[in-house]
Amino acid sequence: MITSCSRIARAAGTVAGFDMIVREIQEQILRLKKERNICILAHAYQRQDIWEVADYVGDSFGLSKQAAQTDAQTVIMCGVRFMAETVKMLSPRKKVLLANPIAGCPMADQMDADLIGQMKKELPDHTVVAYINTTAELKTVCDVCVTSSSAVKIIRNIPNEKILFVPDCNLGDWISKQVPEKKLELVRGGCPTHLRITKREVEAARRAHPGAKLLVHPECHPSVVAEADFVGSTTEIMDYAKRDGGSRFIIGTENSIVEHLQFSCPEKTFVPLSKDCVCHNMASTTLMDVYRCVNGIGGEEIVMSDELISSARRCIDEMLRLGQ
Ligand code: 13P
Ligand code: SF4
Repeated sequence: MITSCSRIARAAGTVAGFDMIVREIQEQILRLKKERNICILAHAYQRQDIWEVADYVGDSFGLSKQAAQTDAQTVIMCGVRFMAETVKMLSPRKKVLLANPIAGCPMADQMDADLIGQMKKELPDHTVVAYINTTAELKTVCDVCVTSSSAVKIIRNIPNEKILFVPDCNLGDWISKQVPEKKLELVRGGCPTHLRITKREVEAARRAHPGAKLLVHPECHPSVVAEADFVGSTTEIMDYAKRDGGSRFIIGTENSIVEHLQFSCPEKTFVPLSKDCVCHNMASTTLMDVYRCVNGIGGEEIVMSDELISSARRCIDEMLRLGQ
């Protein structure tokens, strides 16, 4: 049962009540997900109040692994649409909900299957590797998927040396430098959020925070990546910052990670590389979206035909196999 509005209003009626509301809602989510056998998966870019009710928080590769393993009947994805589609493909008999239906990934919509079909005709001897940030339809015409944390290992393990990599040319450029023995054909596409970070901001941050380590995501422009002390996925950036002996870090990925790291390591200092590195799609999911989902209202159930699932999941299965 959904908590009545009057109960929420009572809690809001006190000054201290604002925090009480968040806690009360979190407690109800935690109780209901247990009672109803629901698993909540959250991408690392989700906000702190959602992290606290999730069964698993992590990067795209970690989320995929969890999606393949969970035995819950219902999975709520707090992230963007392609992540919910990945869960559905890996667990087709489960009910999969995207917590907020407006949360898409602009990069995932940059290319369609027809375009890739055309490119395959021009490059018939290439293995087509897709960043996981793509639609299910596009995955049907690709050979293998990668995430930012699994890409180097997987591409190294592909027997063919000729790779057509879509759609993120920045990630592709970074992989090419890590795996020089492979020849990557790149196309122009990428994450509009990470592309907002400029080299000028790197110079300004270095001046403002001398001695701080610069940690960046490979979706950033190569001129930014070239300046980094460490390059990795969201989970890898967080693990690095927690483990490292340094005390000051400049974070070159979506700005939610700055806050999460500050929660994890209050004694260290974390600053964003750019105030503009905010993904509005990731930020659109709220705790109340999760609350509504566990109460059986809100969210969007991901529906995909069996044909689409079986042809799109081949490249995800291949990713999980090669990324072991
Ligand atoms: P990772 O968490 O896999 O690094 O992905 C970053 C991202 O931009 C997801 O949309
Ligand atoms: Fe897509 Fe970039 Fe947002 Fe990730 S951060 S969901 S890649 S737009």
